[in-house]
Amino acid sequence: MSAEVAAVRTWAAGGGEFPYATVLSAYRRWGKALVPSGLLDALSEARRRAGGDLRPFLDVLLDKRDGTYDYRSYLALPLLAPHLAESDVVIALLVADLVRFELAADDDPAGPLPVMPPDDVLVEKRLRHGLRVIRPVLDRLDRPVRPAEPGVRAEARAVWAAVEARMSGEQRLLLRCTMLPVDIVHDEYLFIRVLQTFETAFAGLVRDLDSAATALSGQSATRAEDALRHAAASLREVSPLWSILATMRVGAFRRFRQWTEGASAIQSRHYKLMESLARRPDEARLGSAAYDHVPEIRTLVRTGLPSVDAAFRAATLAPGERAGVAGAMAEFAAAVDTWRRTHHRLATRMLGAQTGGTGYTGGVSYLAGAREIPVFG
Ligand code: HEM
Repeated sequence: MSAEVAAVRTWAAGGGEFPYATVLSAYRRWGKALVPSGLLDALSEARRRAGGDLRPFLDVLLDKRDGTYDYRSYLALPLLAPHLAESDVVIALLVADLVRFELAADDDPAGPLPVMPPDDVLVEKRLRHGLRVIRPVLDRLDRPVRPAEPGVRAEARAVWAAVEARMSGEQRLLLRCTMLPVDIVHDEYLFIRVLQTFETAFAGLVRDLDSAATALSGQSATRAEDALRHAAASLREVSPLWSILATMRVGAFRRFRQWTEGASAIQSRHYKLMESLARRPDEARLGSAAYDHVPEIRTLVRTGLPSVDAAFRAATLAPGERAGVAGAMAEFAAAVDTWRRTHHRLATRMLGAQTGGTGYTGGVSYLAGAREIPVFG
């Protein structure tokens, strides 16, 4: 019996502290797709006794075996979900951890996820883009960053130190439990953290658009304009994540992608909610694969989810107010448009024009169509 199976069985028999470190290091050693069945059996047995936060963690660990593997379980979104209201805190944790992982490759290229370690130049690029995302977040959180010397690496180390200094035990565990690569390729780490950070940002956009629609229904143009400008700024602020993702080696991506079939961001509830809160999708889009993957959002739309677009048309506003809100809507639409175009460009580079998506669409051709959908109007 392996050490990790023994540790899980001992916990299941006697309780106490769940052996997180042992189980997580086993998952890192093999990658989630290749975890031996003996450990999966033991975890499945243990799940019968699990309650509280442990239960969703075990569901995420066992998704491949249970046949429930999807985008949400791949990114461990059920574990992140309770924290998403605090976008800045979560983004700081996720991006600082990404930076830490890349910094660690300097000292130990064959560390966890040893396949295709990055060279110095690549690490530096990733750190530079990561710092662009995290600087404004740490400013807002009032976490001073004090690099010991000039340079990107020193600033990145200081960023991790600043975030780690205020990290609770619960947040530390959350970071560890939400990193479950399917393979052992270095670049999958950044892929997962980038997706999780965008998800966190989408959750914030949902709140902003919801506030904007409510404000417009109450004829409050200023509040609507502020919410929309905040949404646009938030989406622009995380956009350097695309530059990080663009440093992912195509060979690395294609290797771990063999295990991610069935997990596609087409299943992102926050993204579709964001789209639907901006403007009610046309019937053709609502009836398509785009919403087949998120039937609960389709139901929300069909049962009367308000939208900024409709609330704006119905609102009685002074000409100056109308112009202000229209300007903020245009700013948000431009940010979404840039996001979609960058996504489409990167997907084309990673997949080629002909490969289907992991969400079983035509792949890049699906994205080319979705890119043209108006955000408003
Ligand atoms: C290597 C990078 C990426 C590739 C190759 C890629 C590819 C694709 C493809 C092919 C689709 C179409 C659905 C499918 O069949 O899977 C898709 C959808 C989507 N992707 Fe990505 N993607 C990448 C990164 C990202 C990132 C970082 C995000 C951020 C969360 C993201 C968010 C989305 C969303 C929200 C959709 C659904 C769009 C819609 O339904 O209109 N993708 N992606």
